[in-house]
Amino acid sequence: TKEVIPVNEITNFKSRAEEFFPIEWYKEMLLNHPVYFHEGTNTWNVFKYEHVKQVLSNYEVFSSEGTRTTIFVGSNHKQQNPSSITNLTNVDPPMHRKSRSLLAAAFTPRSLKNWEPRIQQIAKELVEEIQEDSVVNIVDALASPLPSLVIADLFGVPLENRYQFKKWVDILFQPYDRERLDDIELEKQKAAKEYFEFLYPIVVQKRLNLTDDIISDLIRAEVDDERFTDEEIVHATMLLLGAGVETTSHAIANTFYSLLYDDASIYEELRNKIELVPNAVEEMLRYRFHMSRRDRTVKQDNHLLGVDLKKGDVVIAWMSACNMDPDLFEDPFTMNIHRSNNKKHLTFGNGPHFCLGAPLARLEMKLALEAFIQRFSRIEAVSGFELENNLTVSATGQSLTKLPMKVYE
Ligand code: HEM
Repeated sequence: TKEVIPVNEITNFKSRAEEFFPIEWYKEMLLNHPVYFHEGTNTWNVFKYEHVKQVLSNYEVFSSEGTRTTIFVGSNHKQQNPSSITNLTNVDPPMHRKSRSLLAAAFTPRSLKNWEPRIQQIAKELVEEIQEDSVVNIVDALASPLPSLVIADLFGVPLENRYQFKKWVDILFQPYDRERLDDIELEKQKAAKEYFEFLYPIVVQKRLNLTDDIISDLIRAEVDDERFTDEEIVHATMLLLGAGVETTSHAIANTFYSLLYDDASIYEELRNKIELVPNAVEEMLRYRFHMSRRDRTVKQDNHLLGVDLKKGDVVIAWMSACNMDPDLFEDPFTMNIHRSNNKKHLTFGNGPHFCLGAPLARLEMKLALEAFIQRFSRIEAVSGFELENNLTVSATGQSLTKLPMKVYE
């Protein structure tokens, strides 16, 4: 297992709310410390767009194979064997290529087209269950359940098991709380075991009867005469869950937060012109997805970032900060759903590890928002909502646990 870098020592945020939207810190770093060495954690930190892009994509110099990381998600155990074919995030090309191609078999444009009506259906069902003229907690009603129900459906998990499936996912990828480290680890191990025992027979069964779902695609996938074993497929699904569920929930919840608190006029604008939704989604990913960051380890001495980097140095690339780099984005600290170049944001990374699930995440965000907008004419913030008391630590930074709003038919 990798050593975890305590990122909070670098940022020094004073509150959860500040970490949820660290715009002042980004400004300060972009302007005054664009390439910043932090002694306490012994890390280089980069914030400018071109630097972040360079660090993420130039794998010959900046490696994913280091021994330290800033990312701390659940179920780290069993995933760390670097020779395993399902280990994708911690290896560089050329090793990376084969696993990536095998896994990518499930994420073709054709699959995406087939998935659209299924995702739409799930989004609609969740939105229908919301009562009109009531106060709804959109995190519980939509943002939290949607991504795990979608992925259960896309995997081809039987319908009656969907909510049990979501429970496992919630436990497996809950963040580690320093006070309850051992308890959480035990809960996770139990859930991982139950998940494995549940999914393994499903994989074996599907091998005999391939259908149209992600597990069947992973069974069919073949690269250089190599295929996934049944056990590897279970591990691959866990990788997808870890990468794709919490992130997408976070993105959907923050989108609603933005519609309520950044600019309350946008909801109506989107409702009148639903075709603006995809660009609004990109702006949400640029402006409201924090603390996206990735670390790389320097493979050879270089001067690519304008400072002397030595082999073994750790560099943290702060994507959410570079999404506000004035060199690339005009008036970057303002949310603007009409921004023409917002798709250039690096929230999904860049280079060989670019998020494999980005098209799926974008589709889920779009369909969730459309289903919601088509049902409700108006939304309204609830007075007395205290952001600080409704956040919890997550793999990215701080995530909303609750977001109440009044909805009108
Ligand atoms: C990789 C972000 C949703 C699957 C990544 C990386 C980022 C990212 C930044 C790059 C890691 C690196 O450079 O080391 C996000 C965000 C999401 C999201 C912000 C939602 C808003 C998803 C979904 C899936 C997914 C829905 C699939 C179900 C993956 C996988 C990788 C990855 C498999 C590893 C790719 C590789 O190492 O080659 N994601 N992701 N992600 N993501 Fe996502």
